[in-house]
Order: sequence, then C-alpha cells, then structure tokens
Amino acid sequence: MANQGVNDPIHEPVNTGRRRFLTATTAVVGAVGAGVAAVPFIKSWNPSARAKLAGAPVTADITALQEGERLVLEWRGQPIWIVKRSKAILEALPTLDSHLRDPMSENPEQQPAYVLEQDPELRSIKPEVSVLVGLCTHLGCSPEMKAEIRPEPFDPEWKGGYFCPCHKSRFDMAGRVFEGVPAPTNLVVPPHYYENDTTIVIGVDPQGAA
Ligand code: FES
Repeated sequence: MANQGVNDPIHEPVNTGRRRFLTATTAVVGAVGAGVAAVPFIKSWNPSARAKLAGAPVTADITALQEGERLVLEWRGQPIWIVKRSKAILEALPTLDSHLRDPMSENPEQQPAYVLEQDPELRSIKPEVSVLVGLCTHLGCSPEMKAEIRPEPFDPEWKGGYFCPCHKSRFDMAGRVFEGVPAPTNLVVPPHYYENDTTIVIGVDPQGAA
C-alpha cells in the first residue's frame, strides 16, 4: 500500500482522518440499511477498498520526520500519529509519573506488550519514535499536539503532550493520561513493527511478538 503520511504542525490532517472515519461509519450503516439490494454493489468494490475497510496494514516512511514533528496517516478509519521525540522530551517523561493515572501502562488494552519491553514510560519500540492512535479515550475527539516544553494556559508546568480542548483531557508525549481529567485511559498504541530503520508498518505485530 502507498505511503500516505503528511507532516502536521496543524490539526487538519487529523480532522481529515476523523472525518473519513465518520464517513466510513456512515457508509457501513447505509449498506446495512439497504439490505439485500446492497450486495451487488459491495461485490463490485475493488480489492483495495475492501482491504482498507477490513483494516489492511499501512506503511509509513519516516525518513524525513524531524524532532517535534508528527506524521499523520489513517488505519482502520482512525488517525495514526507517528511523532519524533527529542531527548529533552524523553528525559521529561519519567518526571511526570506522579501526575498520571497509569504511568507504567498496566492496562493491557491500551498497547501491545512489546512497546513496554524497553521502557514502559516511553511506550514505544524505538525511544524517540512514538506511534499512537490519535483519538481521545474520553469521547473520541482528536486531541491537539502541544509538543513543546513550555507553560500552557491549561498547565504552567507543561512538558509537552496532547490536549483535548472539548473536555480538557491531557496526555503526555507517550500518550499517558493525566490524573483528574475525563479521559479514563492512556491513548492506544496500535500494533506495528519496523520493516527497516525508517519504515513502519501499522496494523501488524513484530514477528515473534506474543
Ligand atoms: S473527548 Fe477528549 S476530553 Fe472529551
């Protein structure tokens, strides 16, 4: 499948993913509502459309991804974020643990086990590259990325992360949720593996992963 990431200092690519997600959901509901009459139409879909709906893996080339940048793509109708974290961000993550609801990612629903092997506070296969499903675990909005370490109106001690403006949930740069916000759990880390140093396949576990 072709690469489909775009660099994203703004929110539009994420919103696009969200919109596609809603469109796909509507399309499925419409097909069910049409009943038998929809079958010939479904048969005429091309293989790639069927594969996409079924959740075929998506490949991302991260060669050009710079520190502090985010690549946004779509997998199973969800926005997937691939973010390159700086050394300063990585050093800040453990300092946040006492403010977080699940700092060691003990809820197994929110990530595959292999992203915790190296360091559960980072939630990633490679320390500097974070891969997340970009949907808030409260009501499914797509949070804003606030990747810089600097005071923010919602947190004067902000160490970088994601902020969901609708109900003010906050997540750090590993997608770990803060205490005292409506989102109940950390952001989801999707299954993924590295095909080579700069190519990530979303939707498939690494070979041999439990
Ligand atoms: S959907 Fe994120 S805080 Fe409500």
